[in-house]
Amino acid sequence: MPALGLGTWKSEPGEVGAAVREAVRLGYRHFDCATIYGNQAEVGAALAECFSAGLVRREQLWITSKLWNDRHREPDVRPALERTLADLGLEYLDLYLIHWPVAQRKGVLGPESAADFLSLEEVPLAETWRGLEAAQEAGLCRHIGVSNFSVAKLSALAEGARVAPEMNQVELHPFLQQADLVAWCHAHDVAVTAYSPLGSPDRVASLRAPDEPDLLADPRVGAIAARHDASPAQVLLAWALARGTAVIPKSVNPARLAQNLAAAELVLTPAELLELAGLDLGRRFVSGEFWVLEGGPYTLANLWD
Ligand code: A2P
Repeated sequence: MPALGLGTWKSEPGEVGAAVREAVRLGYRHFDCATIYGNQAEVGAALAECFSAGLVRREQLWITSKLWNDRHREPDVRPALERTLADLGLEYLDLYLIHWPVAQRKGVLGPESAADFLSLEEVPLAETWRGLEAAQEAGLCRHIGVSNFSVAKLSALAEGARVAPEMNQVELHPFLQQADLVAWCHAHDVAVTAYSPLGSPDRVASLRAPDEPDLLADPRVGAIAARHDASPAQVLLAWALARGTAVIPKSVNPARLAQNLAAAELVLTPAELLELAGLDLGRRFVSGEFWVLEGGPYTLANLWD
């Protein structure tokens, strides 16, 4: 998997297609998608244009997508993946992930009350995983993995699985380093992808806390950037790559798309990496609080156990 990919969460319909086309033109070869982003058909149309223009061939790309929470029952997995493939205009995905360790009733996109959820006792993650294993066996996806999984959930899943999860995609940046989780994954042959590597500053207000620190404006990140004649975003991406994680910054802006891709060339010194290691605040920007509704089965404690 190319270590630096394009994130498409929060890329609006009407702008994501142009961003994908520009990204392919610039040399991006890894695209991170999901059903819940609501933009896969436009991503697919852009990819189709790139293929027919001869800019890139399907087999040169790495395309990831994710199963939404309302399709966790085993018989629902394959149809959900088939719908994603139809939207993206692809015959197979390179990687398919369980988006969250949270189950919702079929048809519920965003839960509004406890009744919209199913507990993990009702729909165990192991059942969902069997659906992914079957989809992989059927050739609909080459690799399978998870997202937003703790070590506890990942190790429990791996123990009972026929095919071990190959990826855990989680929020990672200097303010949320999750060093134990990353080390555990790497020690157990689970690759790690860092989402929201720039602190995800374009989240809607309902997903933001009033006291959020500004990662891109952090003076210590800025000072390292200035030393390399680079941008703060490039420092954050170079840090993620130096840790051995893949990283998927989102942008719909051509100059920032180019800048982010060029971050792969930036080499930080051991002293700079040490300085960045000191910035950890254990601070989640994507807190998971949206899964915590009164009377529901999910709490922050059992989500991030
Ligand atoms: P835009 O899409 O206008 O470029 P994350 O990847 O952590 O979710 O962050 C995405 C946010 O960061 C978006 O608001 C995106 O805006 C912005 N962004 C992407 N690349 C850069 C960059 N190189 N410098 C500053 N902001 C960036």
